[in-house]
Amino acid sequence: MRALVGVGGGIAAYKTAELVRALAERGVEVQVAMTSAAQQFVQPLTFAALTGRRVITSLFPAAGGAETLSSAVEHVSVAQESDVLVVAPATADLMAKFAHGLADDFLSTAYLAFTGPVVLAPSMNNNMWLHPATQANLEVLRSRRHLIVGPDEGLLACGTAGPGRMSQPDVIAQAVLSAVNLRRDLEGETVLVTAGPTQEPVDPVRFLSNRSTGKMGYALAEAALARGADVILVSGPVHLTPPRGALVVGVRTAAEMRQAVLDHLERATILIKAAAVADYHVAKVPEHKVKKTSARLSLELDPTPDILAELGRKKGDRLLIGFAAETEGLQQEARRKLKSKNCDMVVGNLVGREGAGFESDTNEVILALATGETLALPPASKRDVAGRILDEALKLRLALHSAQ
Ligand code: C5P
Repeated sequence: MRALVGVGGGIAAYKTAELVRALAERGVEVQVAMTSAAQQFVQPLTFAALTGRRVITSLFPAAGGAETLSSAVEHVSVAQESDVLVVAPATADLMAKFAHGLADDFLSTAYLAFTGPVVLAPSMNNNMWLHPATQANLEVLRSRRHLIVGPDEGLLACGTAGPGRMSQPDVIAQAVLSAVNLRRDLEGETVLVTAGPTQEPVDPVRFLSNRSTGKMGYALAEAALARGADVILVSGPVHLTPPRGALVVGVRTAAEMRQAVLDHLERATILIKAAAVADYHVAKVPEHKVKKTSARLSLELDPTPDILAELGRKKGDRLLIGFAAETEGLQQEARRKLKSKNCDMVVGNLVGREGAGFESDTNEVILALATGETLALPPASKRDVAGRILDEALKLRLALHSAQ
């Protein structure tokens, strides 16, 4: 793998030498390009020694140097030969140039000529970072799906404290590898994900709900977007920022969730029901708040519509993935739901334990597959688990199609 590492003019440029080494240790071939400001902080020779390659220091060959066509269009050829563009430190100036498409030096010109994944490691004074201009540029760069690593908070070279320190070289190197490994294997798919809990009203101010935070469903939506899918996220009430690029449909009750799912079913090719839908709703919701008395109060509950089971009947050739949150008998329950709800995969997870299920950032799941197999995934972040679920979903579709 080849990385073009652009060094911006900031004090953190000295840490980029460590980054280059960390990338080389991971088997990445590195070509370094430095802005002229960066050369005020670190000598090109440092990077030449670390990479064994000439460092690109300017858009044009030195005055009086032998002008050749290849050196005149080096920004294009280097961009084409690189698998990833990493900019560290990404200064406020470079972020502004990239956001607005300015191309007045090698790095900003190569940025425009480059079509692959871009990783930016910002570093600057905290006020510069927090300035609305920089934050607006950041939004633009994020919307282009660039991977932004950091900045970290801490003491800055200018003597103040706050966000602005460049992330550690190892952290950036790891992000570079994951950016390159991202496949676009869901291009052309429309993934409909349901996430979060539902709230079933008891009266105008109270509701029945559960402890789902929506983290697993949101991680799935994010992973599917990153792999090129169109994503429709039907979300119950949660406190998460919706992933950029998803069509988000906010719902409250199971009945609303069912309607939103059916409204978008036509477009979807993969259905993932990660929501923790309430199984019961109050049969008759009073118009006014229920008054407190000392007498026992009973609620009469009716079952909610089972959306997953309905999708099992209507799915056609769509891939249908359900979830089973259980406190015991996980494998049997997951396999039973797979059959009874006509799913292609049921993701089973034990709830009520540390490090898995509701509220946790990590999860430990089993995947019951329609091929008859059941896989146990090792404990991992919900983001990694989401990636594995999508991997297995694509494999499963191939297996099911070739079995037909
Ligand atoms: O049967 P159980 O509720 O345990 O199944 C869980 C799966 O069913 C989840 O995928 C959940 O999103 C879905 N479900 C549903 N509609 C309901 C209840 C659960 O779609 N009313």
